[in-house]
Amino acid sequence: MGNITFTMIKPEAVEAKHTGSILKRIEEGGFRIVALKKVHLNHERAGLFYKVHKDRPFYRELVEYMSRGPIISAILEKDNAVADFRTLIGATNPEEADEGTIRKEFATNLSMNAIHGSDSDDNAITESDFHFSSKERF
Ligand code: CMP
Repeated sequence: MGNITFTMIKPEAVEAKHTGSILKRIEEGGFRIVALKKVHLNHERAGLFYKVHKDRPFYRELVEYMSRGPIISAILEKDNAVADFRTLIGATNPEEADEGTIRKEFATNLSMNAIHGSDSDDNAITESDFHFSSKERF
């Protein structure tokens, strides 16, 4: 068993019907899907998920955006999962994302950047626990 990371395909990418293409890229990138669901975060849950950013100027906009429609959330497993997944998705700002990355292909801008990836092993566990019970993991 490898490490885990946590991801969300964000509302604008789900609305644009990019879910299948993005999940294909994730599996082809060597990640195993441990848990997967479609869920509409309400304002309160989106705010809680991103509470580490609550003092940042973009927090309000981020919470509005992440609660505007359903997302796809998933736990992914692979050796070196956190770092390898961040390589696969590309830079937070799609203008700085490398060619071939998921954000380069599917993101709209810095706020609507198509996909989330955990930034540390500890946060991968915290974020996974926020979204999934042990019975939802396989
Ligand atoms: P994500 O990896 O999900 O984590 C925090 C999110 O805040 C980030 O992706 C961006 O979508 C969003 N965001 C909006 N503005 C900024 C900003 N100026 N700097 C960093 N993240 C931002």
